[in-house]
Amino acid sequence: MTFSPELEARFEKFLANYPADRKRSAMIPMLIYAQDEVGSITDELIAEVADRVGVTPLQVNEVVGFYSMLHKKGMGKFHVQVCTNISCLLVGGAELYDRACHKLGIGHKQVRPDGRVSLEEVECIGACSWAPAIQINYDFYHDVTPQQFDSLLDGLLAGKTPEQITEVGKVNC
Ligand code: FES
Repeated sequence: MTFSPELEARFEKFLANYPADRKRSAMIPMLIYAQDEVGSITDELIAEVADRVGVTPLQVNEVVGFYSMLHKKGMGKFHVQVCTNISCLLVGGAELYDRACHKLGIGHKQVRPDGRVSLEEVECIGACSWAPAIQINYDFYHDVTPQQFDSLLDGLLAGKTPEQITEVGKVNC
């Protein structure tokens, strides 16, 4: 499988961080960056990463099935992830998710027809103290109110990027 020189350089750096018998520790970051470049986690990508870290494709497949940020199906340019786990659930996370389903016209792990926005209901994203929390691609949004969420979704649907939507502050992690 052929990757860009930039991705190959990242792979090299990740693999160099671990001794020969621990190369599998580079698996998740390799999959995340490869997913960004390839668009999804394909069977070919799984086989390639397995070969490079010295495990079986089945073992990579198990990891892909466990982590919600790894997708076998391509997601939208802006992937909206709404946490409905307990801390968020108690302060409106489920309502935010329902709002998103209604406004975007799609459900869990679905992509709008134009490929611009996708939606996913996710487990805890590690922002419980600032619930309800959502994530768009790699950016976190904390203490999200229904009104702020509406502004975000309306902005995305109108063709804006999250950076152009000022009604809600994001937290870069
Ligand atoms: S429960 Fe939502 S971020 Fe932890």
